[in-house]
Amino acid sequence: MPRAWQATELGLPWDVLSLAEVDTPTPGPGEIVIDIGAADVNFADILQCQGQYQVRLEPPFTPGMSAGGTITAVGEGVSLEPGQRVIGMTVGSNGGFGDVAVMQADGVTVIPDDVPVATAVAGHVIYGTSWFALHRRGNLQPGETVLVLAAAGGVGSSAVQMSKAHGCRVIAAAGGPAKVQVCRDLGADVAIDYSSEDLRERVLAETDGRGVDVVYDPVGGEYFDIARRVVAWEGRLLVVGFASGTIPSAPANHLLVKNYSVVGVHMGAYRDVDPERLRECNDAIYPMMADGRLEPLVSRTVGFEDLPQAMLDLYERRTTGRVIFDPAA
Ligand SMILES: NC(=O)c1ccc[n+]([C@@H]2O[C@H](COP(=O)([O-])OP(=O)(O)OC[C@H]3O[C@@H](n4cnc5c(N)ncnc54)[C@H](OP(=O)(O)O)[C@@H]3O)[C@@H](O)[C@H]2O)c1
Repeated sequence: MPRAWQATELGLPWDVLSLAEVDTPTPGPGEIVIDIGAADVNFADILQCQGQYQVRLEPPFTPGMSAGGTITAVGEGVSLEPGQRVIGMTVGSNGGFGDVAVMQADGVTVIPDDVPVATAVAGHVIYGTSWFALHRRGNLQPGETVLVLAAAGGVGSSAVQMSKAHGCRVIAAAGGPAKVQVCRDLGADVAIDYSSEDLRERVLAETDGRGVDVVYDPVGGEYFDIARRVVAWEGRLLVVGFASGTIPSAPANHLLVKNYSVVGVHMGAYRDVDPERLRECNDAIYPMMADGRLEPLVSRTVGFEDLPQAMLDLYERRTTGRVIFDPAA
């Protein structure tokens, strides 16, 4: 029987997850079942276990909102076929941290033959998020300066890579010397340790007092307030997430006086709201993953046993880049 980590109640994953044998799901109309090749471990998976994510699931459920693998069964009305390799967001209680998962057929992407499943999985959420943030929502232009917060993390590392690939100057900020080195290795022009340096002073010094055109903020809280102070005239402050746990507010008079925009980013909702834009995103990022222009930073691949510890490490800021779950590892 397939195995899966299941949240039996809401709470922190390492407290509420238990490993279970589960029935192989039967796909409903419009759905597919996949054998998991890999699933990326997202900060939002922790929030989902806690019942604090936008999409709330009732226990018992298997977390893992993003995954990729090979189709084994298709439901009524589905034109995809068993054997095809796909990637997408999981639906309902059969998430990606198991041997099998369920997805909505019209929301998945067929992985191009020249892209390995593990690469597609590692890049799925991070490059998707950064493409929507930087290009669709942030209107990033070559030559602009981008400040990336939590730049050694999952989405942050992808924002550094994509901004560089677009011909931008990147100021990366992260916590601790090891993460700062990761930022440099990713190609950041300037790397700041915001756990020991004054982020505002350093950014202003690096930009001759002008500030940055775009801020990519997956952290929120006090960092958002610093970001407001270092965003340039006509700049865009991209609200990507709240890893700090604190949802900030921006006073409207500050936006007016400094003439900048605060821009929301919600990658996951495009599948339902504007699927054409998701195709545009995939068309942009897959060729770059296939030819190596974008190579997702994977710091660790874990199997069943090590998944809860990996989620704890992500929560406690000990991971860099992407952590991948592989049921065969
Ligand atoms: N809007 C969207 O569509 C979208 C899509 C994907 C993800 N997200 C969001 O983006 C954020 C990052 O996701 P991710 O999966 O890529 O995680 P991640 O960035 O790999 O991990 C979170 C990082 O945030 C930083 N951080 C700062 N304060 C923190 C705190 N108090 N607790 C924990 N971490 C803290 C840490 O980096 P330092 O130690 O360097 O500070 C940590 O490594 C999450 O909030 C997630 O929900 C949003």
